[in-house]
Amino acid sequence: MALLDIIVAPDPRLKKKAAAVERVDAATRKLMDDMLETMYDAPGVGLAAPQVGVSRRIIVIDPAGEDEKPAPLKMANPEIVWASEETKPHEEGCLSLPEEYQEVIRPASIKVRYLDEHNEIRTLDADGLLAVIIQHEMDHLEGTLFVDHLSALKRNMIIKRLTKIKKFEQKSGKRTPVEA
Ligand code: NI
Repeated sequence: MALLDIIVAPDPRLKKKAAAVERVDAATRKLMDDMLETMYDAPGVGLAAPQVGVSRRIIVIDPAGEDEKPAPLKMANPEIVWASEETKPHEEGCLSLPEEYQEVIRPASIKVRYLDEHNEIRTLDADGLLAVIIQHEMDHLEGTLFVDHLSALKRNMIIKRLTKIKKFEQKSGKRTPVEA
């Protein structure tokens, strides 16, 4: 397994719609495993392939807390086949938007269909944190970041701050602690 570089916004690769996976093969499985390792290392609870520069419809998730048993999920071509009318606000963060946490409102429960790591079609009912993470990661496949759900004012403030950090890094060749 290998650790992958996580792309930080603003970056055009985070705004692209990802392509469908034709078949989950050994190379896809390797990518899923590398993505999981990268996610655990970050640490984060979800990661989408476009965040590591791969424009394909692959996400990995683990909603388990620090003291809980790991519960990794690997999904290719996830599709929401049902979403509740009931919505819920939840504070979200994103490995591509370091140090930013904002409340996003999304459907509270969903049913998702996807291909697992063995190329088998599966469906999963999710609510709570798991539903939030799946929807957040699926947004990445459309080139959408959680800040795109916020007001333009809030979004611009966050992007401005991240642009400043990037410029500083390019000039000085240093990484700021915020990207640690
Ligand atoms: Ni994210």
